[in-house]
Amino acid sequence: MNLLKERRKMNQKNKGFYITTPIYYVNDIPHIGHAYTTIAADILARYKRLKGEYVFFLTGTDEHGQKVERAAKQFGRSPKEHADIMVENFRELWRALNIKNDAFIRTTDEHHKKTVQEILQKLYDKGKIEKRTYSGMYCTPCERFWTDKDLIEGKCPDCGRDVERIEEENYFFLMSGYQDKLIEHIEKNPDYILPETRKNEVLSFLKNKPLGDLCISRPAQRLSWGIPLPFDRNYTTYVWFDALVNYYSALKYLAPSNIQWWPPDHHLIGKDILITHAVYWSTMLMALNLSLPRNIFAHGWWTVQGAKMSKSLGNVVNPFEIIKKYGVDAFRYFLFREVSFGVDGDFSEEALIRRINNDLANDLGNLVNRFLVMNEKYLDGKLQPQWMEEDFTMKASQLIEEINDEKLWDEFRFNILLEKIWEMIALTNNYIAQTEPWKLAKTTPDKLQNVLFNIWNSLRVITVYLYPFMPDTSHKIWNALGLNLYKFDNKMLKWYFQCKDIKTKKVEQIFPRIETKENQGIDVKIKAMEDKVEELIGIEDFMKIKLKVGKVLSAERVKGSEKLIKLIVDIGEERQIVAGIGKLYTPEELVGRFIVVLSNLKPAKLMGVESQGMLLAATGIDGTISILTLDREVDPGAPIK
Ligand code: ME8
Ligand code: MG
Repeated sequence: MNLLKERRKMNQKNKGFYITTPIYYVNDIPHIGHAYTTIAADILARYKRLKGEYVFFLTGTDEHGQKVERAAKQFGRSPKEHADIMVENFRELWRALNIKNDAFIRTTDEHHKKTVQEILQKLYDKGKIEKRTYSGMYCTPCERFWTDKDLIEGKCPDCGRDVERIEEENYFFLMSGYQDKLIEHIEKNPDYILPETRKNEVLSFLKNKPLGDLCISRPAQRLSWGIPLPFDRNYTTYVWFDALVNYYSALKYLAPSNIQWWPPDHHLIGKDILITHAVYWSTMLMALNLSLPRNIFAHGWWTVQGAKMSKSLGNVVNPFEIIKKYGVDAFRYFLFREVSFGVDGDFSEEALIRRINNDLANDLGNLVNRFLVMNEKYLDGKLQPQWMEEDFTMKASQLIEEINDEKLWDEFRFNILLEKIWEMIALTNNYIAQTEPWKLAKTTPDKLQNVLFNIWNSLRVITVYLYPFMPDTSHKIWNALGLNLYKFDNKMLKWYFQCKDIKTKKVEQIFPRIETKENQGIDVKIKAMEDKVEELIGIEDFMKIKLKVGKVLSAERVKGSEKLIKLIVDIGEERQIVAGIGKLYTPEELVGRFIVVLSNLKPAKLMGVESQGMLLAATGIDGTISILTLDREVDPGAPIK
């Protein structure tokens, strides 16, 4: 019994932390969307390494399929030659973004192809794959079949392009048999799919209609750039079946074998590929008798100045340009501070600059510089630890415990973690203002030593937690603090830290402010949006918009958001409206106001809270928000035209 317990403990201990990103289509040029997922995985992987865990962080590229085949032809290359060239775009970006992935998988790797074939053969032998005649509407660009019901006005529901009817024999993975088992698994494991809204999406997908079987082959004459089915060479494997297997096959040839990695801890993906992971991949694993991943996390979508990023709109944000202009760490910080990881975000250079100037240059940068200058001036840069409990150290160590809450990290609550780190920065800045070290230098040198040591220690621990987000910055600050933290040890995560004979060094400004006048040369193109502005509308268009007078009956903040406020508004009937005005308005000051409400807007959910309409407000270029109010009392519900 004891032995068994011991063995279980050992196994537990040897289970490494395994995190993945999607494998990106090799044919695309990487943009901030791809950067976003990969940086998120990098942040969590770095945190886990700080904690002393074994980590395997996998990313890679998805290289088979018609699109690659077609593009290669255009360039007069073989598909593999084309993939070899394109894959470098991703590798280069990960280097530039300071991504420390442990491995990079390509679906054209021989080992991967072999594993896919082994899995296909296994499922075939088990009777989980069957040949059938299939007829469906096929979208060539998306490489997938749709049923007639799926189509929107006869076009592909995903990309809106033409589809064609194709009838052919194909192989099917018998996915339908797993419908109930999958529902049960999702319901029993509340963390399986996160955030909660995505879990509910999958459940409603599974509960509302019978789950079909999955067509996993393509006739080789139509798709030759793929992995042949081992049991029928006239067919190649459907790209998604091939791609999903990467999470499993990588462990066979790219991961250290002395550690148990399976099951994955997190499959990190965007919300666009939720069903393929939550449904296809989960049922494939069930059929193979492999344990399911601990968590699939589908994050939100980035738009650019309100528009979807696309090549044809010419508004794709190139991460290389952004980091050349503003630095990697500012970019990494911005992406995770600006919006909560589950929900959609909007990218603009103005917002990035605001974050750099306020949070990085002002709050963090100034704290570092003030400390270094004072320590140099008063103590020659030398410090000895002085542990004395006082109000500041108690608050600081308490905050550190909150930041070291594993659950916040495991649920990717990065914006909350960063807010807490910034609370710690503010606390330390206040401590300087309160203790006034420049006065202590003249009156009480003992107290001065103690105060400066506390600031040093606070900066030390702040930068330890900042390290997963901004590794270069943390190294720079550690260097200035006289620390050599290249070897991690989870004692660093605590307030009390062994140290002696500290010698600090002055450094240049870590984050110089960005002068906004220089920002005219913004590279992000918003041509498509400008075109729209010039388009004139007729009065009949305006009449479609139903604006009404609303009286705010109550208001409260949406939990977990610094921006969102939930209002109950009387517009002749009661409506719940969620508005992103929380940074400039308090709930109290909104109650009783008469506002303008767009009342016939389709309901939408913001951070899981339903909004049945929108209030009107003006947004200034510097982010100022001003709500439209009425200057005379009118009955709630009165139309505005
Ligand atoms: O789907 N905002 O690859 P893909 C946020 N090969 N994230 C974005 C984004 C945006 N605007 N655009 C892209 C594939 N992403 C398959 C995956 S996995 C077994 C196979 C990110 O190149 C996000 O992570 O289209 C999304 O899920 C992924 O890129 C899609 O990458
Ligand atoms: Mg895509």
